Amino acid sequence: MEIIVRDNADQMSRSAATVVARVLNSKPNAVLGLATGSTPLGLYKELIRMHKDEGLDFSQVTTFNLDEYVGLTKKHPQSYHYFMHENLFKHINIPTQNIYIPSGTTDNYEAFCEWYEDQIERCGGIDLQILGIGSDGHIAFNEPTSSLGSRTRIKTLAKQTIDDNARFFDSAEEVPIYAITMGVGTILEARKLLLLANGRAKAAAVAAAVEGPVTSMITASALQLHHEAMAIVDREAASSLRMLEYYEWIQAKMPDAP
Ligand code: F6R
Repeated sequence: MEIIVRDNADQMSRSAATVVARVLNSKPNAVLGLATGSTPLGLYKELIRMHKDEGLDFSQVTTFNLDEYVGLTKKHPQSYHYFMHENLFKHINIPTQNIYIPSGTTDNYEAFCEWYEDQIERCGGIDLQILGIGSDGHIAFNEPTSSLGSRTRIKTLAKQTIDDNARFFDSAEEVPIYAITMGVGTILEARKLLLLANGRAKAAAVAAAVEGPVTSMITASALQLHHEAMAIVDREAASSLRMLEYYEWIQAKMPDAP
């Protein structure tokens, strides 16, 4: 995995936006996999700025979101539909019909999950998947012990995730218990993976994901199996990495690399 360490969350977001822009510039009809939560907010702000100031074009882009809470309607302020609309989609020129987000209110979850996987395939697969990481090491809502071959399905959220996400709700009791989420196997099929993490609260999870064994206890560790996975983290999230000096040495030597 390529590890890029930035001084702070702003720099992390700007570097991530550069990676996204590079993909869009080389493939204007790219398929992006998107995450929600607090981590990618700065990235989305920077993409909006690039769209407005530099003409970054989303008119041919298709997006697939990782997950959605079960039971929240699209209009619920804590739904990921609402989050994506408010924090990205309404500010850029992406056609509505190119936006895919798992449904939290379908009558038939099994059929929906199968349909979602089919749509990813029909669109040619995901070119770049953006990922955050939970403090329990999850990617999307693949909680500890999720199969590393899992596909889109319903997962029961771990207590720690419910507690972590309670900050967005009035109380922990209001956080939905179930989510519909892309599987680890689905995520690993994307052509490139970009994991973002900032803040000290993520340091242990980042270290376990990057340097620990590949294990379903830390589903982000599955990124080690991918041939084009990159993690951009800020200094605090990098603070428990044993090989930090090596990653920084690689970065410093990058311009001269053959
Ligand atoms: C959200 C998602 C989750 C978050 C993770 C970190 O779509 O897939 O895995 O990325 O829970 O959340 P934040 O960024 O809020 O710390």
